[in-house]
Amino acid sequence: MDVENGGPVVELRSLYKSFTEKKTGRELQVLDHLDLEVRRGRFTCVVGPSGCGKTTLLRLIGGLEAPSSGEVLFEGSKVRGPGPERGMVFQEYALFPWRTVLRNVTFGLSLKGIPHREAGARADEYLETVGLTGYEDLYPRELSGGMKQRVAIARTLAVQPRILLMDEPFASLDAQTRNGMQEFLVQLWRRTGTSIIFVTHSVDEAVFMGQKIVGLSKRPARMIKTFENDLPYPRNRTAAEFTGLRARILEYLAVEMLR
Ligand SMILES: Nc1ncnc2c1ncn2[C@@H]1O[C@H](COP(=O)(O)OP(=O)(O)OP(=O)(O)O)[C@@H](O)[C@H]1O
Ligand SMILES: [Mg+2]
Repeated sequence: MDVENGGPVVELRSLYKSFTEKKTGRELQVLDHLDLEVRRGRFTCVVGPSGCGKTTLLRLIGGLEAPSSGEVLFEGSKVRGPGPERGMVFQEYALFPWRTVLRNVTFGLSLKGIPHREAGARADEYLETVGLTGYEDLYPRELSGGMKQRVAIARTLAVQPRILLMDEPFASLDAQTRNGMQEFLVQLWRRTGTSIIFVTHSVDEAVFMGQKIVGLSKRPARMIKTFENDLPYPRNRTAAEFTGLRARILEYLAVEMLR
């Protein structure tokens, strides 16, 4: 894993985003001049209260939204729209129900103009990466939630993005599956070295996976604090250092919520 080679992969510079409320015409401030540098190969988690602007932040990095002011840089260049080098995984699996597992994964490859046979081979490779060899011909309805999310991850990985932007991808899974998916994602990341920005409500999830945990305030989101987490992997949720860090972050967020 190559984590020390890192210039910044993503930079936010005084990033400001507001929306105009349709009903009232008023300006709704969502992100309030955020500055952040994400180094290449790192696993970064973003936590913050509901509605504070986490999804908006990922959509700005993904190029699905444009800043109101300030800028988002990806590998030093200003983000002007979506691109295959930034892969997104959302909470809803967003699989095509009428396509098999294999054809869900080949979909993005066909869009990129990759020939059928090569797309199939690459899809097989990434299905193996997520542990779904043997499930190629099933349909999404035949899979569990965790398996569906692994198909969604394989589909995103198959396009070989240089960063994974993940928006609460495990939020709808039961606790046990969710823990399994966290372990799976950490292993995947350690094997591939892909940069990851992972948004979650769960401080526990963030401490289990993230090397850096960014805490946002309630809306409009300001960066309130970043926590470095160099606990060795695989992490043990019951270790004193783990529960201590989790408690520090929870306390910080609670204080911030009361301000
Ligand atoms: N396209 C849009 N137009 C208008 N308002 C929007 C739009 N997208 C988001 N918002 C508003 O911006 C705020 C932040 O939304 P966002 O989805 O980024 O929050 P979030 O932190 O991801 O919330 P959650 O934790 O519930 O997922 C909300 O008040 C939301 O209503
Ligand atoms: Mg959200």
